[in-house]
Amino acid sequence: MKALVVGGGGREHVLVWKVLSSPHVDQVLAAPGNAGIGEVAECAEVEAEDVDGLLRLAEDEKVDLTIVGPEAPLALGIVDRFREAGLKIFGPTKEAAKIESSKVFAKELMAKYGIPTARFEVFDDPNRARDYVRKAGTPIVVKADGLAAGKGSIVCRTLDEAYGAVERIMEEKEFGDAGNLIVVEEMLVGEEASILAITDGEAIKPLLPSQDHKPVYDGDRGPNTGGMGAYAPAPVVTEEVARTVMEGILRPAVEGMAKEGTEYRGVLYAGLMITREGPKVLEFNCRFGDPESQAVLPLFEGDLVEVLEATIEGRLEEAEVRNSQGAAVCVVLASGGYPGKYEKGKVIEGLDELQDMEDVLVFHAGTAKRDGKLVTNGGRVLGVTALGPDIPRAIERAYEAVAKVHFEGMHYRRDIGRKALRHLE
Ligand code: AMP
Ligand code: GLY
Repeated sequence: MKALVVGGGGREHVLVWKVLSSPHVDQVLAAPGNAGIGEVAECAEVEAEDVDGLLRLAEDEKVDLTIVGPEAPLALGIVDRFREAGLKIFGPTKEAAKIESSKVFAKELMAKYGIPTARFEVFDDPNRARDYVRKAGTPIVVKADGLAAGKGSIVCRTLDEAYGAVERIMEEKEFGDAGNLIVVEEMLVGEEASILAITDGEAIKPLLPSQDHKPVYDGDRGPNTGGMGAYAPAPVVTEEVARTVMEGILRPAVEGMAKEGTEYRGVLYAGLMITREGPKVLEFNCRFGDPESQAVLPLFEGDLVEVLEATIEGRLEEAEVRNSQGAAVCVVLASGGYPGKYEKGKVIEGLDELQDMEDVLVFHAGTAKRDGKLVTNGGRVLGVTALGPDIPRAIERAYEAVAKVHFEGMHYRRDIGRKALRHLE
C-alpha cells in the first residue's frame, strides 16, 4: 500500500520510519517532509495546513492510508474531508479534535465526567478575569482557549505577571482569536508525564509512558519550547498511576466524548501532572506528541500500520500493541537562539558517524538540503534517539552520539532523562 504522512518534524520522521517497516507498505509519501524524511520517502511540496492541497495529493497519488502528525490540519477538519472523499485517514474529526483545539471544551468535558484536573474558571471578559485573579491570588495559570503553538499557557508567579498574561492574550490578541476566551486555573505541583493512547472510540491502548522536557535550559529553566527531549518509559508512571490514568482519565474521556455524540478515534495524548493526590490532566492533545514519539515509537514493536488501520475500522480491540522491554532517550538539537529568533542555513556535520552506531536513530525536524549539503531549517533541528536496556544506558548512548554532531549555534539540554534516575535508585 501507499501511505502519506502529513507534517515535517521529528514526529513525522519517526512515523515515516515506523510505517516503512510495515510489510503492508511499499511506498511512503510525506507532505511537506524534511531533508531526513526525503532520504527514505518522497516529499511533496504541500504544507500541513493546506487541506485542499493534501486531498488533491492523496487522490492524485492514490494514497491508501493517510496519517496526520500535527494538530493544525486536524483542527481544520482534514479527517472529515478525507472521509467524505472515501479516503482512509488516521486521526480525530474536527469536532473530536476540539479536545485540543479548545481548552474550554476540554476543561468542561473533564468537569462533566469527573476527570481530575486543575480547578478552573472560564472568562470572555478581561476585567472579570483580572477580578478573579486578584481574589484567587498567585501562583495561577492563564491559558488561551485556542491553538497557540504550545505557547498559550502561562504559569504566573506574581499578580503582575497574571494581569500581563490576561492583557497579552485577551487585549493584545497575541494568539489572535485563540484568545477570545481564557481558562484561569490553579497551579499544579508534581512531575509531568505524557501518555499517548490509541483509541477507536471503544478500545483504548496506551503506548509506553514518556516525559517531555519543555523549558530550554537544564534544570527546567528558561522559556518553554516545543520540547527539548524525551524518554520512555517514564518511571514516575508506576503501574498504579497507569491504572488510575486508564480508569480515571482515558476511559471517562473517550466515553464522555461518545456520550456527547462525538466519537474519538486517533491518538489521545494526556499531558499529566503526577501530583501527591494522583495524576491530573494539564491538557489533552489530539495527536502523537513531539518529541515524545521519537522515544515511544522506536520502542513500539508491533506493526503500527495494522494498529492504525484497525483504529480507523473500529476493531482496535483485536490489534496487538506490543512494546520492547528496553528504554529510549531522545535529545533534541536546536538552533542558536531557539525558542527565540534564530538563523537558518547552518551546515550540519557529523551525522555520517552516527549511521554506524548501534541503537542510535536520528530523526530530522528543521533540516533542508542546499547545494548538496544538509543545513538547518528550523528551531528544533534534529532528535537523536538512543535505545538501551534501561534509561541510564540509553542516556549515555544518546550523549555519546550527540557529541559527534555539530552545527554553528547548536544547543541542547544535557540533563534529558535525569528525572527518571531518582525513581530508579
Ligand atoms: P499546556 O499547554 O496546557 O500543556 O501547558 C504547557 C505547560 O505549562 C505544561 O506542560 C506545564 O509545564 C505548564 N502548565 C500548564 N498548566 C499548568 C498547571 N495547571 N499547573 C502547573 N503547570 C501547568
Ligand atoms: N511535546 C509536547 C507536544 O507534543 O505537544
